[in-house]
Amino acid sequence: MSKGKFIVIEGMEGAGKSSAIKVITKTLDEHNIAYQQTREPGGTPLAEQLRTIVKSADHQEVVTQETELFLMYASRSQLLQNVIEPALEGEQWVIGDRHDMSSRAYQGGGRKICEATIESIAQVTLKGFKPDLTIYLDIEPQIGLSRAKARGDLDRIELEQFEFFERVHAKYRQLAAQDKTVVTIDASQSMEKVHQNVKQAIDAFCVANK
Ligand code: TMP
Repeated sequence: MSKGKFIVIEGMEGAGKSSAIKVITKTLDEHNIAYQQTREPGGTPLAEQLRTIVKSADHQEVVTQETELFLMYASRSQLLQNVIEPALEGEQWVIGDRHDMSSRAYQGGGRKICEATIESIAQVTLKGFKPDLTIYLDIEPQIGLSRAKARGDLDRIELEQFEFFERVHAKYRQLAAQDKTVVTIDASQSMEKVHQNVKQAIDAFCVANK
């Protein structure tokens, strides 16, 4: 029995992850591949509660950056063991809206938490587990943030200073450049072109892995 594959979509706010996920699911349908969708933080009942906590801008106290980091990994642990791994074992593919690369970019790049600290928590949580393919939608922070603002209602992290997103973006690019399982797509292109690039990447991956 062959295991399913884990495909992750990554990118900053306003990069167009949601519509790219629709392209991915449609492409998997065309290849007759069974899949489940997940999101992070979130994706299980407990992880969704953690998502609400970590995104809320209404806390009456400072959310420390260590708490933020632990909540991300607590959510990831719930999702990995209760949803992702059983699905992959059951031959289903999993499409993840964000995964570990987000923590490296936001908590590592944005919050400047040292890499060794994140690596040790990632080791405990993931035990070497890694996506088979990551589609990274690359967008300049000023473009992405203006799209996200136009959508309204920013969460606690989206309310950060511009410099925070510049660091997130730089870290995303650095991580994408050093990992062969990451396909980078220029998300400042027309939506049609971005979707075409996403479809091409998924088609090629399906053909290579079916
Ligand atoms: P989104 O999924 O609606 O984009 O919201 C998730 C927010 O949480 C987004 O601002 C990115 C942030 N985030 C992190 O900071 N670290 C993480 O590990 C993950 C998964 C998300």
